[in-house]
This record gives sequence, C-alpha cells and structure tokens, in this order.
Amino acid sequence: MKATDKRTILITCGRGLSDLLRQEIEALGFAVDSAHETGVEITGDLTDAMRLNLHLRTAFNVLVLLARFECRGPDPLYIQVGRIPWEDILPTDGYVCVVGRIDTPTIKNTMYANLKIKDAIADRMVQKTGCRPDSGKDRNRAVVQAYWKGDQCWIYLNTSGRKISDRQYRRIPCQAPLRESLAAAIILTAGYDGSETLVCPMCGSGTLPIEAALIASRRVPGLLRTNFAFMHTTLYDEAAWQRMRAEALRQSKKRGGKAGFRPARILATDIDASVVAAAQRNAQTAGVDHLIEFGVCDFADTEIPEGKGIVVMNPEYGIRLGEIDALKQTYQRIGDFLKQKCAGYTAFIFTGNPELSKKIGLRTSRRIPFFNGDIECRLLKYELYSGTRKHYADRSNAPTDPPDR
Ligand SMILES: C[S@@+](CC[C@H](N)C(=O)[O-])C[C@H]1O[C@@H](n2cnc3c(N)ncnc32)[C@H](O)[C@@H]1O
Repeated sequence: MKATDKRTILITCGRGLSDLLRQEIEALGFAVDSAHETGVEITGDLTDAMRLNLHLRTAFNVLVLLARFECRGPDPLYIQVGRIPWEDILPTDGYVCVVGRIDTPTIKNTMYANLKIKDAIADRMVQKTGCRPDSGKDRNRAVVQAYWKGDQCWIYLNTSGRKISDRQYRRIPCQAPLRESLAAAIILTAGYDGSETLVCPMCGSGTLPIEAALIASRRVPGLLRTNFAFMHTTLYDEAAWQRMRAEALRQSKKRGGKAGFRPARILATDIDASVVAAAQRNAQTAGVDHLIEFGVCDFADTEIPEGKGIVVMNPEYGIRLGEIDALKQTYQRIGDFLKQKCAGYTAFIFTGNPELSKKIGLRTSRRIPFFNGDIECRLLKYELYSGTRKHYADRSNAPTDPPDR
C-alpha cells in the first residue's frame, strides 16, 4: 500500500451537517462521490486526507477505506483484517487504537470485535516484521476504525484520531458548551463572513464568537492542532505536511494575520464573569482574542451597535421540569430584547426545546433543524425589521411559524 493510492475517503460529521460539510469539501476543490446524513465520500489519497484534516470546520473524522468485505462472524473478521498490509501502514515500534461500531446479529459485543481486529493486526505485524504493536484507547496515535453492519464490514484508517472538531483551543470548558463543529455550522448557516457586526450574548465558553472570528479572519482551523493520527503511520510525509501547513498559514495571513486587519465588531457577553474569563482565555489560545470584545452583563444589557448585524444566542434549554419553568421567563425576555434592542439585525437562536422557543413570541423566518448530540434542535431565524413593518406576533396570540425546513 502506498500513500499515493487513490481510495474512498469518508468524512464524517454530526447528524444533519453533511450539506455544509459537502460545501466545505467542494470549496476545497474535491468532487463529492456521495453524501448521507452523517458523512460525505470522496476519492483521494493520503495527501488529500491530510488537507481535509487541516481545512475542514464542520467535520468529525477523515477516514481512509482500507478494506470492505462480507463478514458473517468473528473468525471471518479476523481472516479478512489479517489480509490488509498493516506492515505498510504501522511502524514496527507502533501503537494502534481500534474503535468500532457494530450493528450485526452475528455478534453483540463491540469490544470482542475490536479485540479480534487488534489480534489480526498484531499477528500480521509479527508475521511480517517480527514486532507486535502495542494497543489501547489512546486516539492521539494510529487509529483503526471498523463499521460492521449486517453482513458488511468496512475497515478504515482514521487519519484524524481525535475528532477534528476538537480544535484544542477550549482549555477551560464551561457548562453545556457547543461542539466547535456545530458552532461553526451555526455561524456559517447564519451567513456570517466577518463583514457585518456579530453579537453573541450568553457566549459561555466562547465557542460561537471564536468560531466566527476564525471564519472572519479565514484562519485554517487545523493549524491550531499539532497532532493528527496520520502522523503516526509510516505513510506520513512530513515534508508534504509542513508545505501544506505553510501554505495554509500564508492563506490565513492574507486576511487574519495581516497587521491592522479587523472584521466588523464581534461582541460576546455572558452574565457569569468566570465564564467570560474562560472564554477570553480560550480565544487567546485560538489566537483571536484581539478580534472579540468581551463583556460581563445580563444579555439584555449587551451593546447592540447601530446599523445591521447578526445576533446569535445559545440559551440553556433545560432538561428537568424545574429548570424549564425558570427558563420560560428567560425566553420571554429574549423576545423582548430582540424586539426592543435589535431592530435592523437578523437573530439566530439555537435551542433544543420547542416549547420554550414559543415563549420568544416572534415570528421565525426559518426553523433550521440541527442535532446537538442526540438532541434534536432548531436554529431559529428572526428578521428584526426596523421601522414600521408589523412582523411581531402577539404573545397572547401565538405565532404561526412556517413549517420546519
Ligand atoms: C448553553 S450555555 C452557552 C454555551 C456556549 N454556546 C458554549 O459553547 O460554551 C448558556 C450561557 O448563558 C448564560 N446565561 C444564562 N442566563 C443569562 C443571562 N440572563 N444573561 C446573560 N447570560 C446568561 C450562562 O451563564 C451560560 O454561559
């Protein structure tokens, strides 16, 4: 097996993000072979996989297909995995982490399947090189990923290791942070490109304003990471990776790093001072703290600069009943804030609770489905016209929203 071999590459993403992911992949010049709810497939080599790891904002993992076969039990699994030339992929003093998703009547225990795969890899390595690789759960080194559905099995080299949505700037987590890939998807869906004001009240650990600042300044997100799983394979071409990074850095500098460059204002506030301090530190780690104006205040007191812009909020949406009751008032206040202070802006509220969202009491122009993990959420869009246009529904007479789309 060679690094230049063309293979199927599956780029995975959170449920519902594959349209955005597809756009990102096509913008990089790749032709998409197929797409489904949680992933996009292209054909490419290891250099392409490295490039995808470096540039994508909305992806989880970049997986290079090594083998696909019919599989009706653990023994055929062992035999088929043992046919893959692992000695061309793993270093002799190597390490491998095997992760799998199993949905087959043949075998109930994913751990057992992973063990069979590990044994097949180790036995082949011993036979071909005399060395047995270590194995374990560390995703910071070589990672093999298996999907076994019905009687079909796919074995991939996971070139990312830890999800590429884990950009590693969020050193100080807060309660209920959004995954970076989801925050980027929200910002991209809002149509944000850095040319107009962005206001993020309730910023929490800062994921939304930080992703916005990265997008506005065209920073290539993978530059924030120093480790990917492909670096721990013998197929890794370090010189090619360094060239790719240098080019990405040049591209980022064309806008973001250029002295004096500033996108339109990005304001981020939260009522909790410790959370804002954490968000500032996270922004510093991401190298965009100079592009974001942080503040501590109730969301309703957030400065809304004159003119047009985007407001994006991710209020808590509660799980327990007591929490939900308390949040009803917050959502009502969000409606008042948007109506009274944000005329001329477009607002996007990300929530997983449709009952609470009704309390906002304004008519949505779009309700965009998203998933936060397993929770079905909506990104609610509100056009907050200035002037006399009567677009606000009366809360006592609940708004008639257009159907979800
Ligand atoms: C779901 S979290 C936001 C998480 C954020 N998107 C992230 O990725 O970290 C909601 C945030 O709203 C803040 N918050 C709650 N009530 C608030 C209020 N009245 N004014 C401003 N912020 C508030 C909380 O402190 C919390 O940080």
